[in-house]
Amino acid sequence: MRGTFITFEGIDGAGKSTHLAWFAGQLQQRLGQGRRVVTTREPGGTALGEDLRQLLLHRPMHLETEALLMFAARREHLAEVIEPALARGDWVISDRFTDATFAYQGGGRGLARERLETLERWVQGDLQPDLTLLFDVPLEVASARLAGAREPDKFEAESAAFFSRTRAEYLRRAEEAPARFRLIDSTRPIAEIQKTLEQILASL
Ligand code: ADP
Ligand code: TYD
Repeated sequence: MRGTFITFEGIDGAGKSTHLAWFAGQLQQRLGQGRRVVTTREPGGTALGEDLRQLLLHRPMHLETEALLMFAARREHLAEVIEPALARGDWVISDRFTDATFAYQGGGRGLARERLETLERWVQGDLQPDLTLLFDVPLEVASARLAGAREPDKFEAESAAFFSRTRAEYLRRAEEAPARFRLIDSTRPIAEIQKTLEQILASL
């Protein structure tokens, strides 16, 4: 039986990385030894993808170059990690996937959606995540959480207007595909968010 593909999304500072390892651990406990939970991330997830991540997060570049490199890293990630794991029947949890490209390069930077859809079809064919958890917070909350937490990378140093467009595009996509998305109010305390995640785990 084919595995299940789950993605975690949200603007920087929304808190998705905080919950990913915990969620994966809970899921593995529920599944027992028969099926493995593979956690991974984008951009990255493979040796080449992690090299591309360094360029993407730190080098200024043309916005189309940025989108193309995101999808190049994704092509490798699908071929090397995601597809083989799903074919084995494993569960895959990725910290970001294609929704991030639509939100950041599309919403944030303004790259035309049709361009991204063309690349999406090329790289993924019909493959979509089975479930996407969108950790949502207002910009002020996200930026307050990031302030002092870590040195900002190229994206984290973007303007409030950029993140406002990025968040809006995430929310638009969630509305467009309600069967795939779960919207998580990430302004709440971590323990409360975990309760919501437990309910989601119970429904899987
Ligand atoms: P993301 O992966 O979405 O960029 P992180 O998980 O790295 O965000 O969280 C960013 C910062 O916010 C971290 O310092 C983390 O401890 C803090 N944080 C995450 N979730 C919450 C929460 N629900 N309440 C308060 N602080 C949080
Ligand atoms: P992330 O791993 O969430 O950063 P961190 O480890 O610092 O929390 O994501 C790296 C950055 O890459 C993030 O700012 C969003 C951006 N990104 C895009 O712009 N497009 C994409 O397609 C992906 C996958 C990420």
